[in-house]
Amino acid sequence: MSSKLEQDILARRTFAIISHPDAGKTTMTEKLLYFGGAIRDAGTVKAKKTGKFATSDWMEIEKQRGISVTSSVMQFDYSGCRVNILDTPGHQDFSEDTYRTLMAVDSAVMIIDAAKGIEAQTLKLFKVCSMRGIPIFTFINKLDRQGKEPLELIEELEEVLGIQAYAMNWPIGMGKEFYGIYDRYNKRIEQFRTEEDERFLPLDENGELAVDHEMKKSSYYTQAMDDIMLLDEAGNDFSKEKIIKGELTPVFFGSALTNFGVQTFLETYLQFAPTPQPRLTEEESLVEPLDDEFSGFVFKIQANMNPAHRDRIAFVRIVSGKFERGMNVTLTRTNKSFKVTQSTQFLADDRETVDEAVAGDIIGLYDTGNYQIGDTIVGGKKTFQFEKLPQFTPELFVRVTAKNVMKSKHFHKGIEQLVQEGAIQYYKTLHTEDIILGAVGQLQFEVFENRMKNEYNVEVRMEPIGNKMARWIENEEDVKESMSGPRSTLVHDRFGNYVFLFENEFAMRWFHDKNPDIKLYSLL
Ligand code: G4P
Repeated sequence: MSSKLEQDILARRTFAIISHPDAGKTTMTEKLLYFGGAIRDAGTVKAKKTGKFATSDWMEIEKQRGISVTSSVMQFDYSGCRVNILDTPGHQDFSEDTYRTLMAVDSAVMIIDAAKGIEAQTLKLFKVCSMRGIPIFTFINKLDRQGKEPLELIEELEEVLGIQAYAMNWPIGMGKEFYGIYDRYNKRIEQFRTEEDERFLPLDENGELAVDHEMKKSSYYTQAMDDIMLLDEAGNDFSKEKIIKGELTPVFFGSALTNFGVQTFLETYLQFAPTPQPRLTEEESLVEPLDDEFSGFVFKIQANMNPAHRDRIAFVRIVSGKFERGMNVTLTRTNKSFKVTQSTQFLADDRETVDEAVAGDIIGLYDTGNYQIGDTIVGGKKTFQFEKLPQFTPELFVRVTAKNVMKSKHFHKGIEQLVQEGAIQYYKTLHTEDIILGAVGQLQFEVFENRMKNEYNVEVRMEPIGNKMARWIENEEDVKESMSGPRSTLVHDRFGNYVFLFENEFAMRWFHDKNPDIKLYSLL
């Protein structure tokens, strides 16, 4: 591999921002893109979200609801790094796509609203990141407003998420009396709402503010200094190794909206964020980013990003080597080789053709139905398959039928393709062969209904059967159909495996008491 290519790969930083809706993910993304020079007007991303931005050609449903159903990818350069941000849907009704996107990143930035602390969706997304052991950087947002006490927030992080935290900086005051942040890492104080040239104040050798300043007289300053002393003495030690293993999260305080602390965050983040990481194959060997041959995996398939073209795009995370437009690749699953001529990269709404991309990058390949989620493509002669992407245990279920029975062929074709794409999960009852769909977020059903209508011309009837707990079975051979009951329905998944859909926790325990030999397990 040439040293230029090696340098290019090692300059990549690929991450996702995770947060509960309204914590400030869009605002933060926008500020990061602005620093990276990727957008000129810090307002573009926001405008897209609120529907004020007219050029969006994304799915109809996205436009109607003014939300990002799909995850897109944004790229910019900053201080010698090429940053790839993978966007994750910010709506409460997020979907499996959001989870799968986290399989394609090397680190995550977790945004927390200082007034709210850890919220439900943050917790879910955090768990997926932590299962992969990926480094998580925390930004506690909205310090320009009154929020929880900083010590309380750190404690909550550690207790609720079970991760060690290290405060990189510490707020001095908050809300109306927010003076700024005490930057433990860069050893300076960054003042809030202050002109660039006066923004940073130096510290003396005792860690106290080295210059005369009215802030020194404030009780907030004294409080912050007391807190920092406590952190120095009783808090966790800073450890780069622990950050990289995902055992310790560096915590930054700031305010995305007022653009405070964002640039410091970005600069510090880039120092510690991992370069592209290797990935395991099914044979458990590691494919390294600096391996010569190109390889990558499909983590998402997006249909009809532009309805005028009816195209499908397979999103590929490049794991090793370099991608060049026009190169020959082999799709391991089918062992078919072909030339890749149409490839794109994404920036907010604009898609542009990409000629070259390297390990760590995400590219979009035009797809006419060849790719499936989890597919591996390789450039060399020797093919292999990357580890399976995890499947997630759905929580919501509907029974689905075609409104018009004459459309049954289209109905089945549509379901088959959307299931393959990973848009929704498929189950079938044993004798009546009813089709049941499962999802982790309600929005998946809406997208399904909408796409069945627009792409397959079939109107569907969806009858909610409520929340269920889906459990797979380790010892399938011991399962008897007579174990199925109204509160513990036995179904097949799309691979023909048995799955019990339990009405609730109680039904599951009751089943377990009656059938102690059946070993149940859930996916993620
Ligand atoms: P999301 O993508 O995580 O859903 O959050 P988003 O950035 O859209 O932010 C949610 C709301 O929080 C927005 O207000 C945004 O302006 C506000 N916000 C983000 N960062 C900060 C911050 O640092 N301080 C304060 N005070 N507010 C912040 P909104 O009223 O819902 O929308 P808009 O009227 O600003 O468009």
